[in-house]
Amino acid sequence: MALIAPSMLSADFLHLEKDVEMVNSCADIFHLDIMDGVFVPNISYGFPVVEAIASVADKPMDAHLMITHPEKYVERFAKTGVAMLSAHLETMEHPVEVMTLVRSFGIKAGIAFNPDVPVEKVFPYLDSCDFVLIMSVFAGFGGQKFIEDTYGRVKTLKREIVSRSLDVKIEVDGGVSPSNAVALSEAGADILVAGSAVFKAADPAAAVKAMR
Ligand code: DX5
Ligand code: ZN
Repeated sequence: MALIAPSMLSADFLHLEKDVEMVNSCADIFHLDIMDGVFVPNISYGFPVVEAIASVADKPMDAHLMITHPEKYVERFAKTGVAMLSAHLETMEHPVEVMTLVRSFGIKAGIAFNPDVPVEKVFPYLDSCDFVLIMSVFAGFGGQKFIEDTYGRVKTLKREIVSRSLDVKIEVDGGVSPSNAVALSEAGADILVAGSAVFKAADPAAAVKAMR
């Protein structure tokens, strides 16, 4: 069964503590989308918000960096206490070095990539990371439509991980909802990120339950 990681991008920022408590009580991971307005055409939130969430979070935090030069901010994120950190393949000149840096802080290191990046591009780095984040929408905004190709991409990656007997988890992010969660988990996803399907639901806790 996949772990559920609500994306705080869709949370109610005026009542953030309420949404943090919801994740504490019924989900598994806090997914934190960090956007710089350069790598993606949107700006999200930064350290003050991450630190505020950290102060009340009982579950591990997962920072998804959609920024150029992610290596510059790894140490700062480590200080916030994140347990997982992913950076985009498209933004890393030396992915192995960045993953090694992330791991040096005791953080699980992940490689993320957009739907137009062939999944095989991550194969050379599977020995250097702890998880792979497959985007099922183009990074930048919550509330986009799930790209159906994703199932095949997850299966291809899963096959490679199993054939090499690696312990690399697969995270899927974008347009995930109760309607595709089971199929994604069957395809090989270990962690499902969901923003709008959780926070725009009338009953967020029920939406998380429906995805399990
Ligand atoms: C998109 C982000 C996602 C997003 C997911 O760039 O990486 O984490 O918040 O939101 P939904 O579930 O609404 O697609
Ligand atoms: Zn994300």
